[in-house]
Amino acid sequence: MYNLKGKTAIITGSGKSGAIGEAIAYKLASEGCNIVISDIGITKEEQFSAEHIGTTKEMDTIVSEIKKLGVNAVGISCDVRMENQVSHLMEKAKEAFGSVDILVNNAGIGYIMEPFTEFKEESWDAVLDVNLKGAFLCSKHAALQMIEQGNGGCIINIASQAAKSGFPFAAAYTASKHGMIGLTRSNAVELGAYKIRVNAVCPNHITTGLGHWQNKFFSDKMGLDYDKYLQSIVDKNPLKRTGLVEDIAKAVAFLASDQADYITGEAMNVTGGEEYH
Ligand SMILES: NC(=O)c1ccc[n+]([C@@H]2O[C@H](COP(=O)([O-])OP(=O)(O)OC[C@H]3O[C@@H](n4cnc5c(N)ncnc54)[C@H](O)[C@@H]3O)[C@@H](O)[C@H]2O)c1
Repeated sequence: MYNLKGKTAIITGSGKSGAIGEAIAYKLASEGCNIVISDIGITKEEQFSAEHIGTTKEMDTIVSEIKKLGVNAVGISCDVRMENQVSHLMEKAKEAFGSVDILVNNAGIGYIMEPFTEFKEESWDAVLDVNLKGAFLCSKHAALQMIEQGNGGCIINIASQAAKSGFPFAAAYTASKHGMIGLTRSNAVELGAYKIRVNAVCPNHITTGLGHWQNKFFSDKMGLDYDKYLQSIVDKNPLKRTGLVEDIAKAVAFLASDQADYITGEAMNVTGGEEYH
């Protein structure tokens, strides 16, 4: 549909099954991209927060499944908080497929929530480090690569509805996602000269691992049964459903394609009408 054949797409935080990054990887593969699956790359035993982190084993499985779609795929571990690992990711991607054309900054954490007056400094740093510093480092090194190639490129930041509106107990997450929009706009202005387009996608609630954890957190806080809480989200949504990972993947494929070649600096809501500014 979008003719992305032969382009190389790197999706950070894409080594977890059922999550948004995996869906983006499948969609871009189905549009002909060679895919770099990338995640923090640790084993179950090493995990600091098992339920939230994609494992090296899951990463390998996703790579094999993507290859069945008739494109090339590799798995490259990268903790987006570490600049040396990020530059290594870009080098390895270029080595594997000859170029870096599309970067999707998807890696993120959303499971650290605390009342604002009790918010710990280390919690703030942990969230900002992955969500915002990670996107900064990956964008920087992808842009360096794209500028050297001289054919333009495309960077897509997976932000959130929390990039447009505030949410209780989520000061760090909300600030990190608002920050991502600033990064998007600034980079769009600066990198436009190199034909690098930079956009963001802002999803509402999707019941991934992260989404499930947030549902549980908020339903407990409100003293509501989990299903009742989820239904309350559906009820207030104009399209009467929560988001699906595929909704985000479709928006990313569009923004990565030539159909969006005059779109940059945009923060596109994909929320079923829940967010509209
Ligand atoms: N699920 C939602 O409701 C929702 C809504 C809006 C935005 N988002 C955003 O979408 C993105 C994906 O979220 P998801 O729901 O699929 O979450 P998820 O927890 O299922 O997946 C997040 C991925 O990021 C990876 N990751 C975490 N720290 C990393 C690091 N330091 N380096 C590299 N990878 C790391 C994890 O291993 C995991 O694979 C996140 O940026 C999230 O903030 C999600």
